[in-house]
Amino acid sequence: MNGRPEERPSVAISAETIAHRVRELAREIDERYPPDEPLLLIGVLKGGFVFLADLARAIRRPLEIDFVSVSSYGTGTTSSGRIDLRFDPETEFGGRHVLLVEDILDSGNTLQWLVPRFLDRRPLSLEVCTLLERPGAAEIGVPCHVGFVAPEGFLVGYGLDRAEEFRNLPYIGVL
Ligand code: IMP
Ligand code: MG
Repeated sequence: MNGRPEERPSVAISAETIAHRVRELAREIDERYPPDEPLLLIGVLKGGFVFLADLARAIRRPLEIDFVSVSSYGTGTTSSGRIDLRFDPETEFGGRHVLLVEDILDSGNTLQWLVPRFLDRRPLSLEVCTLLERPGAAEIGVPCHVGFVAPEGFLVGYGLDRAEEFRNLPYIGVL
């Protein structure tokens, strides 16, 4: 057994509310791109994996899926701004519309670092879809589809973790 069974994050956004919003975002994305032009979803690991899985299945048009993994080093609670690429998507960006799928836009550091590097690869277009965005996140310079304004507090669940715990909660919880 891992985890502490007595610690149960309180519900900030329910599974039903998330599912409803994911369907709306999927429709928005379906309408955004010409149906005959290739769409590539890039999930930002690890936190984006649950959102990506649900979003991809709610989008009706053909698409491809790949992942990127970045690590940022800091003191634990604050990001130092130093970022390393840990896993680089293998799919060619040229000739594809690329949509980056992220769990939460917090400071914006991660995407501010990724976006110019991805634009260098000359996709047909580059946009971001994030489930959550905190007020005050930095501008990332490309269009961003946002699921929810992030509730206050440290959020876990639906892919989000605290020290690798709680990623499998079906709702967004607050600790
Ligand atoms: P940014 O580079 O500051 O935008 O950080 C984004 C990343 O920090 C997210 O992809 C998450 O992995 C992590 N993060 C930020 N806020 C939270 C939170 O409340 N809970 C869990 N992870 C978070
Ligand atoms: Mg993340």
